[in-house]
Amino acid sequence: MTEPIVQYKKVHKAFDDVKVLKGIDLDIYPSEKVAIIGPSGSGKTTIIRMLMTLEEPTSGDIIVDGTNLWKMEKKGELVRANEKHLRSVRGDIGMVFQHFNLFPHMTILENCMTAPIHVKGEDKKEVEERSIEMLGRVGLGDKMNNYPSQLSGGQKQRVAMARALVMRPKIMLFDEVTSALDPELVGEVLEVIRDIAKNDDMAMVLVTHEMDFALDIADKVLFLDEGVIEEQGSAQEVINDSQNKRLREFLSRFRN
Ligand SMILES: Nc1ncnc2c1ncn2[C@@H]1O[C@H](COP(=O)(O)OP(=O)(O)O)[C@@H](O)[C@H]1O
Ligand SMILES: [Mg+2]
Repeated sequence: MTEPIVQYKKVHKAFDDVKVLKGIDLDIYPSEKVAIIGPSGSGKTTIIRMLMTLEEPTSGDIIVDGTNLWKMEKKGELVRANEKHLRSVRGDIGMVFQHFNLFPHMTILENCMTAPIHVKGEDKKEVEERSIEMLGRVGLGDKMNNYPSQLSGGQKQRVAMARALVMRPKIMLFDEVTSALDPELVGEVLEVIRDIAKNDDMAMVLVTHEMDFALDIADKVLFLDEGVIEEQGSAQEVINDSQNKRLREFLSRFRN
């Protein structure tokens, strides 16, 4: 049996005394594509920010490739992870955000190269080759020497994807990456994610409101509601066949 690459075990998260996640149990397998759907405020972003080490769980464990993310061993005891431990585990994880946060003063190519060179200390020539390859993959081979301000929103988001891919993550996280884009730019970005999903064997977790897209690429869909995974199954089971009342009501908002 293959072991999960990510496991959430009874994960809770509260901000002050507001309980946002209430016992998340979730296994993600290598190369699995997982879509998370659910109403605004249900905790989708928080689930993936904890995996990206941007939010610390209030309780419970997140295990990445066999290693506890937020806890480390010290003198035979599990203690709170330090920055070095978090950084080392996070090395396997890439994320694309709703707002792409490219460096405005760097070219597209430089944007892709900076983290592997300066954070991971990789060889510049190798990183450059890989960056050129990834920019080609997202259809921006001819924009490498341009600056972010010269690109459309859809192109910027594709740069953000290339930049994440250059890090060669085992797990890629996508948080509503098309929701800040003009409608006519959504398709090109989904097409790139679809291509990555179909051809790459890394695990992917996608928060999305694009139900047809989830049906097409997701191996597993979770419906999150008020901090609880209410439904979990194949895309067909969750999006088309579920009788869960809250889920049906949520999905009806996406049908015209
Ligand atoms: N840093 C924070 N401080 C306080 N409350 C937060 C913070 N981040 C998220 N929340 C709250 O947690 C809940 C879940 O947020 P989020 O995970 O962003 O939901 P979703 O992505 O499903 O819209 C919301 O009520 C939100 O206001
Ligand atoms: Mg969100």
